[in-house]
This record gives sequence, structure tokens and C-alpha cells, in this order.
Amino acid sequence: MKKKLVGALMCVAMTATMLAGCGNSSEPTAAPAETTPAAPAETQAAPAETTPAEVPAETQTAEPAASGEVITVGFAQVGHESDWRAANTKNYQDTFSAENGYELSFVDCDNDHAVQIETVRGFIEQELDYICIAPIQSAGWDTVLQEAQDAGIPVLIVDRAVDADPSLYTTALGCDMVAEGEAAGNWLAEYLNGEDANILVIEGSVGASATLGRTEGFNNIVAQNSNWTVLDSQSGDFTQAGGQEVMESFIKSYSDFNVVVCQNDNEAYGAMDAMDAAGITYGVDGDVIIISFDATHDGLQYTLDGKITCNVECNPLQAGFAEGVIKKLEAGETVDAWTLVEDEAFVAPGITSDYAVTMSQEVLDGRAY
Ligand code: AHR
Repeated sequence: MKKKLVGALMCVAMTATMLAGCGNSSEPTAAPAETTPAAPAETQAAPAETTPAEVPAETQTAEPAASGEVITVGFAQVGHESDWRAANTKNYQDTFSAENGYELSFVDCDNDHAVQIETVRGFIEQELDYICIAPIQSAGWDTVLQEAQDAGIPVLIVDRAVDADPSLYTTALGCDMVAEGEAAGNWLAEYLNGEDANILVIEGSVGASATLGRTEGFNNIVAQNSNWTVLDSQSGDFTQAGGQEVMESFIKSYSDFNVVVCQNDNEAYGAMDAMDAAGITYGVDGDVIIISFDATHDGLQYTLDGKITCNVECNPLQAGFAEGVIKKLEAGETVDAWTLVEDEAFVAPGITSDYAVTMSQEVLDGRAY
């Protein structure tokens, strides 16, 4: 529902947020650079039984778009599990700001699929103009997407993918997770140059397309290398604590491994903590090669330091692509079914690769997230 009154107080019933009982930006229109994107889990109340009618409205001011209309956008975000997610959230809050003519209803779904579905239902009830969904898991979307379509609200599937019929949503955008997994595998094959690999994989969240895609892509390359063995593959839920826990358990079960694949940077930090505690060396001067994904600022610092040997980027700065779609739809133009957000891989200093950029301080300094 477009909001026409310039400078007027506008009510935003954060129905879905409260239903979700999870962290959210209750001031979605204010997005200063220092905004903390998501509250830590332990600060989040969980009134699961709260009904929409009980939810108090929050008031805020918003600036109009050039047309004089404020565009309302709901963003059902995955959660706050990683540095990548924090950067992605901030990017959406900065882009869909009041100054830019938007009223953003942001909901941190705390990695809970049921909460995310109800969040989207709340956006539909509020008759928002657009709904962006970063799907926690790829399955289970048909019904609510049909409801959004019946309500005439365009849906943008962002970051991760859904396995629903594409006719149920307007567009999808994000990185190619399969290609990311293949990039990691291709780099490893190049680096090992025929040496054996005994590999442990710390996967991301179960059922997430980022997990499924990276696993599929990496396994495509494993299948081409008969002297590679994946010893084990367990979910670390894209968190540092999860990465540490899985690595600790791997260390108890396996003594002969030379590659650890972490499906995001935060898991890699946890895995490094576990290996430090066990006296296992890693990195370019150690016994174990660590491959990570995301290439966030701190992940690339570890890559520059030679601790993470290869880090495959997943670019979190995706809100501009979503805004581009919305602007086209506002102008009555057609939009592409899919927009690829491109990314690249990075390797530690001293390594040259056909698949990755060699890290340097200059590359790190140019990092926006
Ligand atoms: O979907 C993108 C993935 O989700 C990122 O790799 C990870 O950090 C995040 O949690």
C-alpha cells in the first residue's frame, strides 16, 4: 500500500516481527552507517502466541519518493548468523531508507522457517508494495508465495533460492552458489596438483540453497579427483559456534585430514579456534588447508595472513539489485527472471591461481564489507 502523505507520521504495525518473536529493526526508515543490523539472539523475546491484533503500532516519519509516494517494502531476512548476514542487512537498511523514499519493514527471522513464513503472511496482511525474501531454506514456499500472488504483491527472492515454481514470484537475485563450490574445488585441484586430499566439510544451515549449492559444486570437482576423499560433512549452521563444535567433533573422530572446507567465514573462525586448541596447524605454513566462503573483511584478513588459504566470495551487497528491480516495476517495465550477483575468489599471498585473486593489503583496504 503506497503511503502518499509527505512528512506525516506513519504507522507501521510490525505484525510479522512480533509474531516472529525475533529481532528486527523497529526503526526501519533510519539507516545510518553505524546501524547495528540485528540484535543478538539472547536479547530477543519470543512471544510466539502474540496475535497481530495485540501488536502495537510503531510510528515513524518517512520522506517521499520523487513521485510523492513512499514505497513500502517488507524484508524477511534469514537472521543474524554471520558477518555476511550483518553486511547484507545493513545494505538493505541503507538502500531502502526513508531518505530514498522507502518504508522498510525489516524482520530478522532468526533462522526459523516457520517464523519466516508467518513474517511474509504479515507483510501480505499489511498490503506492502513489495516483499523481499531471503529464504532460510529452499523448500516449503509454494503456499505463501501463492498467497502473495493472489494479493497482487510482487515478491523478490533474494540471496538464496527457493525450489518453488518461478511463476509464483516476480524475480530472483543472488550469487551462484554451485559456481562458488566449483570455484573452491577447482582452486584446490590446482593447488594440490595431484596430491591426495582427505577432506572435512563444515556445511552451512541444513536445507539452505547456499549450503546445497556449495556442496553440490564442490562435490562436482571431488568427483573428478579419484584421490580425494570427503571423510565427513556436517552442518555448522553458518555460525562460529557451530563451526567450532563441528570441528571439535571432527578432531575426535579423524586424525588424518589435510583439507577443511568451511561454508562460510564464521564457521572458519570457529574451526580455527578448535584446531588451535588441539594444536593442529593450518594455513600456508601449516598441515591443514582451510577453504572458506563469503570473503568478508575479517575472512579476507585471515586470507591475507595466510591462515585461510582460499576464500570464495559471496557478495552481500545485493540491495541495489533489488532496488533496481523495484524501480523497473514502478516504471511499468518488465524485469529479468533472474539477476546474478557476481563474485570472485581470493588466495593467500604467494599463491597464484587461474581461479582466484592473490590477496594483498590493497585488496583488503578496498573491501566494502
Ligand atoms: O546465503 C548466504 C550465506 O548465508 C552466507 O554464506 C552465510 O554467511 C550466510 O549465513
